[in-house]
Amino acid sequence: MPAAGKEKLKVLIRRAAINRRVREVAKEISHDFKGERVHLIGVLKGACIFLSDLVREINLECSIDFIAVSSYGKGKESSGQVRVLKDLDSSIEGLNVVLVEDILDTGLTLSYLLRVLQQRKPKALRVAALLDKPSRRLKQVEGDYIGFSIPNEFVVGYGLDHSERYRNLKDVCVLKLPADGPSH
Ligand code: IMP
Repeated sequence: MPAAGKEKLKVLIRRAAINRRVREVAKEISHDFKGERVHLIGVLKGACIFLSDLVREINLECSIDFIAVSSYGKGKESSGQVRVLKDLDSSIEGLNVVLVEDILDTGLTLSYLLRVLQQRKPKALRVAALLDKPSRRLKQVEGDYIGFSIPNEFVVGYGLDHSERYRNLKDVCVLKLPADGPSH
């Protein structure tokens, strides 16, 4: 897909590697919750593709729900303020919850969500994230199931966007904007 304007895309993680890793993560979850039901909660919109692929590889009884939060708005930097835009459809009390995130960056969104969800008394609360940028962390939170640890680059594709674009890319790509200056 051609990049708009002078934006540049460089493949960071190819689709085959993503698919392979999603199957491995699903296997870990299936193993950890063997014989039980798992309730996946996708954080909209970025996690929708990861969740869709992940849930089909989990070998257990599964249910899904979604929550939407605001964090980044239209730009590349976090506002630091998190707000629930769409809440869960149903109670999670007594359920084995796996919160499914596209990427852990500063950790602000995750720490907020963990606090909110923990108050609702799930039986278990774990976190699966496709990507992790540990060097950007402002809050001490970690994922239980991480697809890939990546350097501090802004990435798009496989659900991740920039101003709502590029979510449909099958690979995870680094996005360079003209304002970023030349890459070395
Ligand atoms: P955090 O609260 O800073 O951890 O940010 C989490 C959210 O910011 C993610 O769920 C993404 O929606 C967004 N985000 C963080 N880094 C990137 C990126 O590199 N590309 C696209 N979205 C990102």
